[in-house]
Amino acid sequence: MKINNTLLVCLGSLAIIWQSCTSRGNNPGYEYAPNMYISKTPEPYSQLEEGWAYNPKGMSSRLPVKGTIAKGQIDYQYPHPNSLKGYEAAAAFTSEMPKTQENVLRGKELYEIYCWHCHGKGGNNDGPVVKEGYIGVPWEGYTSDYIKELPDGKIYHTITHGKGLMGSHAHMLTPSERWKVIYYVRSLSMGDEFVYEQTKNQNK
Ligand code: HEC
Repeated sequence: MKINNTLLVCLGSLAIIWQSCTSRGNNPGYEYAPNMYISKTPEPYSQLEEGWAYNPKGMSSRLPVKGTIAKGQIDYQYPHPNSLKGYEAAAAFTSEMPKTQENVLRGKELYEIYCWHCHGKGGNNDGPVVKEGYIGVPWEGYTSDYIKELPDGKIYHTITHGKGLMGSHAHMLTPSERWKVIYYVRSLSMGDEFVYEQTKNQNK
């Protein structure tokens, strides 16, 4: 009997120990060498821990070199402020990016992520947000004279800063992506009259 009791206590303890090592819910259980799962992450712009200070002033990443512009941000310094005056002045703003088929197709992909739910897949303002009556757009669609006569620069301004019930899309689209979307809007607006540009450097 006595042996059986000791055996029971031993088995019981083993079961408890075994259970406490098992992972469940938010408990990761017993982790062997946890530093293999939980990696060290330096705080942004601080690298003060010993052995980590590779960059000057203990920064975890370096600031861009002065006077440089990251890829895709070439016209980042968009000169027109968020104002009615800025909107009017933006009419003269253009891009060097060619209207190649590749650029327009990329614009289509982006449009079908960020724009179609309001303006509709074909640009007829029949996306679900408009159809359900949450938002109204003051012109018929991209084939309306208003859009046909609207300078690209003004569309760029609207995508960058927003206008009326359309919010800014600057944090979703890089400057070059904004142009690709604008070209796709143009292709929807002009239909068969839209002419693709040919260039050797397709992605310029
Ligand atoms: C939440 C719905 C919504 C989304 C998303 C949206 N728009 Fe708009 N858009 C509007 C509304 C509303 C207007 C009318 C703004 C006004 O003039 O008051 C507008 C205006 C425009 C205009 C005319 C701009 C001008 O200067 O008058 C263009 C072009 C346009 N949108 C294209 C786009 C593109 C391209 C995207 C995606 C990057 C987009 N929209 C995303 C609702 C939206």
